[in-house]
Amino acid sequence: MKVLVTGGAGFIGSHLVDRLLAEGHLVEVVDDLSTGSMANLSQARAEYHGQIRISELDIRSDEFVQHVIKVEPEVVFHMAAQADVRVSIQDPLLDAEINILGTINVLEAARLASTRKIVFAASGGTLYGEPTLDKLPIKETEPQRPLSQYGVSKKVALDYMATYRQLYGLDYSALALANVYGPRQDPHGEAGVVAIFAGNLVSNIPCKIFGTGEQTRDFIFVDDVVDAFSKAASSGSGEVINIGTGIETSVNTLYSTVVRATKSKLEPNLFPARPGELDRSSLSPKKAKKVLNWTSWTSLEEGIAQVVQSLT
Ligand SMILES: NC(=O)c1ccc[n+]([C@@H]2O[C@H](COP(=O)([O-])OP(=O)(O)OC[C@H]3O[C@@H](n4cnc5c(N)ncnc54)[C@H](O)[C@@H]3O)[C@@H](O)[C@H]2O)c1
Repeated sequence: MKVLVTGGAGFIGSHLVDRLLAEGHLVEVVDDLSTGSMANLSQARAEYHGQIRISELDIRSDEFVQHVIKVEPEVVFHMAAQADVRVSIQDPLLDAEINILGTINVLEAARLASTRKIVFAASGGTLYGEPTLDKLPIKETEPQRPLSQYGVSKKVALDYMATYRQLYGLDYSALALANVYGPRQDPHGEAGVVAIFAGNLVSNIPCKIFGTGEQTRDFIFVDDVVDAFSKAASSGSGEVINIGTGIETSVNTLYSTVVRATKSKLEPNLFPARPGELDRSSLSPKKAKKVLNWTSWTSLEEGIAQVVQSLT
């Protein structure tokens, strides 16, 4: 099958490209390289040249639309985004231009190219806002109350997907991702804490922990995430589906796991809590099991060992 991956030179996108190539698909990558890098695709290019084509284009441009019309992909994996919550707060217009207008351009292009389906990288970590504690792990039926401009722009995209499905029969699945981590992650991204801790401790630099360190997140390994994207190409029609482990891990537990993996002796430096951060978070994987037949299988220890190995 011919597929197109927007943001395919990014952290998650490049792992997805590796997976799709290994499955034998013809893969068209579109990326403007604003945060992504060709280096993330160097192995893919070396092993699968002839099966992968990379175009440096902005998803907001007319050229992008013309490109998609020419390529006629059966499935578009839409990963390109302004993916930093802090940037969205500092520059909400830029965030909306890329995440809302850019997504509309992707939908228009897919409609004109008679694409069968869009699989969209939604954000489960921001979509639901601060959860009621008795509602953890969060199910897809919970109210969507994002607390940042980034969360809003990713939420709005879901309405556009549903509208295009209704009006034009362009199918979609939106995967609401927990905090994704793994090799190639840029420490400045949405869930950079694993990359920061591992990068610092490998280089013998002390880490910062904000607040008590007892705040929790749902850390999901990137290979497990791309498995969900692969499955969603042919299942989960018209659905928003959480992709997480359902397990809450505190920042302190994460830190000690990275310390064990790096054999570091460094103590963290403690700083006051940062305003606006969620206290606790985890996403229920039940719907993903039912709808996509997907479950995560990489433990935090295994995943972090792979991150550390990639840095040494
Ligand atoms: N990392 C996470 O934990 C996480 C969690 C939830 C959702 N997501 C979503 O997953 C997707 C991938 O995130 P990531 O962590 O790999 O981030 P990333 O920044 O590594 O990847 C985004 C990619 O999109 C490209 N891009 C940005 N703007 C573009 C534009 N206008 N035109 C073309 N390409 C553009 C970037 O160059 C980059 O390669 C994003 O949509 C993000 O919102 C990520």
